[in-house]
Amino acid sequence: MLRIRIPATSANLGPGFDSLGIALKIYNDFYFKKIDRGIKVRVIDKNTGQELNIPREKNLTLTAMERLFSRTDTEFDGIEIIEEVTIPLERGLGSSATAVVAGLVGANKILDEPLTEGDILELAIAIEGHPDNVIPAFKGGLIISVMTDKGLMFKKIKVAQNLKIVMIIPEFSLDTKELRKILPGSVDLKDSIFNHSRTALLMSCFYENDWDNLIYAMEDSLHQNHRAKLIPGFKEIVQAGYKAGALGVALSGAGPSILAFFTIDGKEIGQTMVEKFQDFEIKSRYLITGPDNDGLIVET
Ligand code: HSE
Repeated sequence: MLRIRIPATSANLGPGFDSLGIALKIYNDFYFKKIDRGIKVRVIDKNTGQELNIPREKNLTLTAMERLFSRTDTEFDGIEIIEEVTIPLERGLGSSATAVVAGLVGANKILDEPLTEGDILELAIAIEGHPDNVIPAFKGGLIISVMTDKGLMFKKIKVAQNLKIVMIIPEFSLDTKELRKILPGSVDLKDSIFNHSRTALLMSCFYENDWDNLIYAMEDSLHQNHRAKLIPGFKEIVQAGYKAGALGVALSGAGPSILAFFTIDGKEIGQTMVEKFQDFEIKSRYLITGPDNDGLIVET
C-alpha cells in the first residue's frame, strides 16, 4: 500500500498569473494498492464522508496514471486507488493538481521509478496546462515557476509561519478551462508594467518577511478583473477584507475562492468577507489555514 498526501495550492498568487503559487495546509490523500487485475477507483469526500461519483474519463488521477504508463510503455492493470478528498473541488484551490501529481507519482512508484522528478513535473504541467498549481503541490512553499526554452525551472521560497491565510470559499464553482477562455490574448504594456513591478515587490515581501507591502504587492491587472465579473461583489469583498485587517487579498487561482493574508485575526476577516458575499446573495464559508512548506509526502 502506497499513500501520497498532497497539499492544496493557491495559484496566480497576486500578480503572478501562471507563474506564482503557494501550497496550503489543506490536504488530499491518495492510496494505491496492487490487486490481481483491473483498475478500481473510489473517491471519498472527507468533509461529508460521501463517495463521489466521478466518471472515469474525468478522473485526473487515472488520466495522469495512464499518461505515465503509456510514456513508459508498460501495462496499466491491477491497481486499486482510493482518493480521500478534503480540498473543495473547482474552487481555485488546486484540487485537480493534487490528482494529477498523485497519479504521476503513484504510477512512477508502482513501476519502481523509471522517470525522474523533472520528468514528472514536466508531465504534470503538460496535463494541467500551467505550472503554478502542480509545482507547489509537489514541492510546497511559494514557488516561482519559469518556463524556459530548456523546459521548467523553479525556485522555492519557504514561507514564514507567522503569515496565515484565510480562504473565502463561495458555494458556487467555476471551471478553470472556461475561465481561461475569457482572458484576452494580449495585454497592454501598462498592465504588464503594473504586474511585473508588483511581482518584484511581492518577492521582496517574501524574502524579507515584510508583510506591510502586501497590500500593493498582491494587486493584479492581467486576469483578476476579467474573472471577477463572474464573482458577484468581488471588489467589495476585497475591500471588506482589507477593512477587517487583511494584509493582502487576491483571487485564489482562477477563482472563485478569495485568499487573504493575515498575521493576527483571521476569524474577523473571514466573517466580514463571508457577510459581504451574503450582501450579494452568495453563500460562502471561510477556512483558516497557513502555508505548507513540505509539499507532497509519500509513505509506503
Ligand atoms: N494559472 C492558472 C489559470 C491557475 O489562471 O488558469 C488555475 O488554477
